[in-house]
Amino acid sequence: MSVEKQSPPAWQQSGYRHVWMPYTQMQTAPLPIPVVATEGVYLTLADGRKLVDGMASWWTACHGYNHPHIRSAVEAQLRVMPHVMFGGVNHEPALRLAERLAKLTPGDLNRVFFSDSGSVSVEVALKIAVQYWLNRGVSGRTKFVSFQHAYHGDTTGAMSVCDPDNSMHRHFKGFLLEQYSHPVPQTDDEHSAFEAFLATKNSEIAGVIIEPLIQGAGGMKFHPPESVARIHSACRRQNVLLIADEIATGFGRTGTMFACEQADVVPDILCVGKALTGGTLSLAATIATDEIFDAFLSDDPSHALMHGPTFMANPLACAAANASIDLFETEPRLERALAIERELAELLAPCRNLHGVVDVRSKGAVGVIQVNRLHHVERLRSRLVEEGIWLRPFSDMIYMTPALSITPEELQTLCEATVRVVQEWSTWMSSP
Ligand SMILES: Cc1ncc(COP(=O)(O)O)c(C=O)c1O
Repeated sequence: MSVEKQSPPAWQQSGYRHVWMPYTQMQTAPLPIPVVATEGVYLTLADGRKLVDGMASWWTACHGYNHPHIRSAVEAQLRVMPHVMFGGVNHEPALRLAERLAKLTPGDLNRVFFSDSGSVSVEVALKIAVQYWLNRGVSGRTKFVSFQHAYHGDTTGAMSVCDPDNSMHRHFKGFLLEQYSHPVPQTDDEHSAFEAFLATKNSEIAGVIIEPLIQGAGGMKFHPPESVARIHSACRRQNVLLIADEIATGFGRTGTMFACEQADVVPDILCVGKALTGGTLSLAATIATDEIFDAFLSDDPSHALMHGPTFMANPLACAAANASIDLFETEPRLERALAIERELAELLAPCRNLHGVVDVRSKGAVGVIQVNRLHHVERLRSRLVEEGIWLRPFSDMIYMTPALSITPEELQTLCEATVRVVQEWSTWMSSP
């Protein structure tokens, strides 16, 4: 029986009319799936069914849900100090986390600015980049270069560096700051054109922002490490900053702790979020190199970074993040991410030649079935649930970002069910 045919729980019946769901046309959307519990890679629904979760809650629950180590760290912190302001006050969970992030990230990315969501960490990165130039006495560098299919978040500055034409934010043109958008260069000619562009505009460009290796919500497009390495070299030669948005790719998703490592690149600024707390609490960070941070040191108070979210460095979230990093140190997450890449390639291969399927690809623990047009999306979603799995197809793709702790058997269940449903979907597409 499809989820829509189940009788919704009382709390959903009375509360739904008061909630505004994300990325949802509320007039036509079916009721969301009522989830009452999570464990490992499973969601438990209000009617008792369990779904294998292929989303890890938007890339976050990298160790699976309710990991006991993270839970006990958060419980212990909750008893002592759930929150304290960060302005003028410090606490051990945040400073320990900052030190560990500085060690974990490549090169001299040594200064950590905490915030409460990925989008805000991007806003902070953009502000840091603009002010870096001002503090160095260079004016006029207020624009950014981002890439086609980029997605960097939903706040105003972050929206301005999303793809201006293909993104969900395109109708805000005119409201958003105008930035430059380029295809991710891959060939020699494209790299030369990209660098030539930087050369002609660099007096107005503060920085280039990239999602290294995998562009997420803008289309799940992959590019090779060489592209990132050459973009980084071009930025160096043309004296513009490079911001790596690793909010989605960070913490093992691509098979290394950070995607930049595969390109052997140390960006000037790195954004992390999502899996930072192992999917437990909202926390993000903007991490700057020593050189960037030093530009804010001055006798002039106006050279300071004027940003400070109320809940920045929340101790509960920092405790969760420290516990999550412990798990990366003690459990074979990166090895598993690489194995997942191979398993996804094999298990999703039967979709490759189906009518309507354009491409099947995997990188680390990300699997994508790209289609020419995602017709029948609600029918597709409800068939996936009937098959016992949770995925959220959108745009032109059915994709999965499972927990890095998913077992081979669980991944097989997830992929086999996906393949069955995509095969069915393909026949709906072929019938008149
Ligand atoms: C690459 C990237 N940047 C930024 C964001 C925004 O993060 P948040 O949703 O935490 O604001 C996301 C979220 O999907 C993302 O994938």
